[in-house]
Amino acid sequence: MDKPVRPQDLYPDPRTVAEIDARLGAEWLLDLVPDERRIVDRYPDHPQWAAKLDEANERAVGRHEGGGRFDEREIWRLMARPSLFALRGANRRHYILDGIAMGVGIARRFAIAGPILDAGCHLGVTASVLARLLPNTVVGIDPIGATIDAAQALNAGIPNLSFVRSGLPWATDRRFGLVLCYDVFDHLTEGEQRRAIASLAELTLDGGFVVLSGLMLVDGGWAERANGWLSGGGLGYVACDVHGGFGGNPPDWASNPVAVLRKGTSEPLPDDLHDRTKREWDDYFKDYANASTTPRREATQAFERARRSAPLPEA
Ligand SMILES: C[S@@+](CC[C@H](N)C(=O)[O-])C[C@H]1O[C@@H](n2cnc3c(N)ncnc32)[C@H](O)[C@@H]1O
Repeated sequence: MDKPVRPQDLYPDPRTVAEIDARLGAEWLLDLVPDERRIVDRYPDHPQWAAKLDEANERAVGRHEGGGRFDEREIWRLMARPSLFALRGANRRHYILDGIAMGVGIARRFAIAGPILDAGCHLGVTASVLARLLPNTVVGIDPIGATIDAAQALNAGIPNLSFVRSGLPWATDRRFGLVLCYDVFDHLTEGEQRRAIASLAELTLDGGFVVLSGLMLVDGGWAERANGWLSGGGLGYVACDVHGGFGGNPPDWASNPVAVLRKGTSEPLPDDLHDRTKREWDDYFKDYANASTTPRREATQAFERARRSAPLPEA
C-alpha cells in the first residue's frame, strides 16, 4: 500500500511561496489589504467602478433578504475589472495564494508533465501565476464571458497560457494531468455538482490529480453522495487540507477545506474529513500563525506548510 500523503508535502519551498506572494502583489495588486492609491494609479477609472460594485452588492443582499439565494454572478462579472478584483480579492488573497502554492507543489512533487486546468478560473490569476512558475501548458475556463475576455487581455504574451469560455461540464477532447477547481462547487446546485464531477473525472488523465476546495466537503451528507459520483468517474481520495489564514477586511481568520483526488484510485472521501482538516489547522497552523515572529503576510497555510514540506525532487 502507498504511504499516505502528508498535506505539507503537497507544497513547494518557502522561496517559491514568497515568489507567488510577490507576483500576486506586483501583477494583480493583491495584498493583505487593498492599497487604493496604487489601484487608482494603475486604473484611474477605479472609483466609478467601485461605486457600481457597491450597488451590485446591495442588490444581491436585497434579493437575498427578500428570500432568494445569494446570487453573486453580477458581482463576479464586475470583478472581471482588475481594479475591482484588487479591491475585493484582498478578502480572498490567503485562499488564492495557498491554492496556487498547492498547485505548484503537486505538479512538482508528482512530476506532472501534462497540461494543467483551472476550472472556474475567473480572471485567470491562479492560472497566470502557475504558467509563470511551471513549464506546463495551463488552461483556464470560466462560464462568464467578461472574465474570460479580461483574462485573455491581461495575460496576453504568456506562451503556455490560454483561456476558454466554458463552465463544467466542458465538452472537449483535451485531457489534463492536474485539474484545480477552487471555490466553485459551493455556488452550484447539487445536479450541477454531479455533472461537474463527472466532467472533472473525464478531463483528467489516468494517474492525474483533481483538487477541489469548498465548504461542501465538510458536509457529511454531501461527502456520502459525492462518493458515488467520484467512484463513477474513477476518482479516489488522496489527502485533505485547508487553504486560508489571515484574510478579510476587517481582518479575521478564515479557512476553506480542500480535497486532493487521483484518477485511477478508489479510496472514498473519509467521513471524518471535517475533523482531519480541523486538526491540520489546530495542531500546526494556529500556533505558527499567532506567533509574534510570523510576519502577518506569511500567516497562511502555504507559508506554514512550506517550512515543514519535504524537499521537492530537483526540477
Ligand atoms: C467564487 S469564484 C472562484 C474563482 C477562483 N476559482 C478562485 O478561487 O479565486 C467562482 C467562479 O466559478 C465560476 N463558475 C460558475 N459556475 C461554474 C461552472 N459550472 N464551471 C466552472 N466554473 C463555474 C464563476 O463564473 C466564478 O468565476
